[in-house]
Amino acid sequence: MTRFVFNTAATLDGFLADPDHSLTWLFDVAGGTPDAPEHADHFGTFLEGIGVTVLGSSTYEWLLRETGALQDPAAWTDAISGKPAFLFTSRDLPVPDGADLTVVSGAVEDELEAIRARAGDRDVWLMGGGDLVGQFADAGSLDEIQVSVAPVTLGAGQPLLPRRLGADRLRLSGVEQRGQFAHLTYRVGA
Ligand SMILES: NC(=O)c1ccc[n+]([C@@H]2O[C@H](COP(=O)([O-])OP(=O)(O)OC[C@H]3O[C@@H](n4cnc5c(N)ncnc54)[C@H](OP(=O)(O)O)[C@@H]3O)[C@@H](O)[C@H]2O)c1
Repeated sequence: MTRFVFNTAATLDGFLADPDHSLTWLFDVAGGTPDAPEHADHFGTFLEGIGVTVLGSSTYEWLLRETGALQDPAAWTDAISGKPAFLFTSRDLPVPDGADLTVVSGAVEDELEAIRARAGDRDVWLMGGGDLVGQFADAGSLDEIQVSVAPVTLGAGQPLLPRRLGADRLRLSGVEQRGQFAHLTYRVGA
């Protein structure tokens, strides 16, 4: 059955990006990219189980900026790991030529059926940001959180998951050291 999985890197103090939406803090950590040896096999295995990705517009705009995918549409496929994607935005944002990107807006409940259909018998990768993932949690559609905690604190930035989920809803199901990162897996209950 399709699961909704939030998989991300975050700082020790719970941020996905700095206040300016920069990820330099992440790339400054040894092994701070998904293709680094300490992550590559795990990330490859994770991707094999993913049928579709979901992202918010700040994350999307970051990917466009970093990859230049509007100028080089082939770069989009790499940026999104070859998966179809659903983009949540209320704006009319540019889309790389040929990108398999479904642009949606509004309540996540209204999109769940379409997202599940694109996932097929695989899982949904919720890339972020944190509030969008929180909207899926609010809708009862967040099954697992995988977070690679970097040895960095920022003090401020874009939050990992700005919701209150108590210990009655989160169960730690995995702890692994991956180089300088602590990779934590939590099952999310109703
Ligand atoms: N550390 C990591 O591995 C990692 C992973 C993911 C993301 N990131 C970074 O973390 C930051 C996250 O930024 P963010 O917190 O602003 O989150 P985001 O989810 O990427 O973007 C938020 C924006 O998405 C749009 N949106 C969200 N929900 C919507 C809905 N239901 N309907 C329509 N539009 C909706 C809204 O913008 P508009 O409607 O104005 O477009 C909203 O302001 C980014 O800088 C990203 O690059 C880091």
